[in-house]
Amino acid sequence: MTQRMTITRPDDWHLHLRDGAMLKAVLPETARDFARAIIMPNLVPPVVTAVDAAAYRERILAALPDGSDFKPLMTLYLTDDTDPADVAAAHADGLITSVKLYPAGATTNSSSGVTNIDKVMPVLEKMAAIGCPMNVHGEVTTPEVDIFDREAVFIDTVLDPLRRRLPELKVISEHITTKNGVDYVASAGDNLAATITTHHLIINRNHMLVGGIKPHYYCLPVAKREEHRLALRKAATSGDKSFFLGTDSAPHIDPNKESSCGCAGVFSATNTMACLAHVFEEEGALDKLEGFASLHGPAYYGLAPNEAKIELVKSAIPVDYPAHIETGEGPVTVFNPGYDLHWRVV
Ligand code: NCD
Ligand code: ZN
Repeated sequence: MTQRMTITRPDDWHLHLRDGAMLKAVLPETARDFARAIIMPNLVPPVVTAVDAAAYRERILAALPDGSDFKPLMTLYLTDDTDPADVAAAHADGLITSVKLYPAGATTNSSSGVTNIDKVMPVLEKMAAIGCPMNVHGEVTTPEVDIFDREAVFIDTVLDPLRRRLPELKVISEHITTKNGVDYVASAGDNLAATITTHHLIINRNHMLVGGIKPHYYCLPVAKREEHRLALRKAATSGDKSFFLGTDSAPHIDPNKESSCGCAGVFSATNTMACLAHVFEEEGALDKLEGFASLHGPAYYGLAPNEAKIELVKSAIPVDYPAHIETGEGPVTVFNPGYDLHWRVV
């Protein structure tokens, strides 16, 4: 039996597009299904100033397939030296949608991230005053903290104190991976929301580590225990407006993943909507998919939802998604949920 559903065209509230040949190859994978995406600024060198963001935006628009109306929502990479006036001007111009805080050393290309929140308080105060939201990679990076505890410790020692100090700042806790994150966001007020990735709804740390190490399931924040995955699934499918989709689709070429020191990142742009439909159907919550993928995000960012719709179709025969996509730099493996996918966007 064929099943169909129509939803508002979705947006991706956390996406890595890279640059150059990689950008050209991965952008169509997102632009096919999504109308907008929050574009992560962790290029080498990072997108730090309004001038950088304007130039990157032009490169993205130039790389779009003909006829695509995909809209990149630009972000700035917060550093210890970010100028509050530059952020304010870029936000007032509509050039940037938000500012991304990476704790220094937390993840791929984050070496110029923030070393101490105190150093960026003037920027954060300015952002709170003008209504510019902050995306935060919520992990501490101190070597004493176990990598599986980094998120929980960040909430207690950085995020919660910051939100008490500056409650007016609108924050998006990016790619939460724990029950601690879910509970904290669910109980917070209007100025905190969280994105959840596709893959963290599907894999736990066993998928990555049992029966041989699976480098294509390695990402940051790293997948946690099953109880955390279940908490994420519950949050995503609950209808709670504080939770919405940010795929964190983060392409690395296979030689850089399948390596003695493999890069962190899961590339899920190609089949995210199919994976999500599968998950929401399993949870008996297909009616909540539109909220998670298409409505809660724009509402939190103060934007209108997309006018366009997409249709999702489920067929009895599995859909033949590519195992990898070719890029000018080498192959990139597409996220494998570990089961057949029957949904597709038409
Ligand atoms: C991201 C990347 O490769 O840029 N990697 C990842 O594992 N998610 C960085 C990030 O978002 O942490
Ligand atoms: Zn990311």
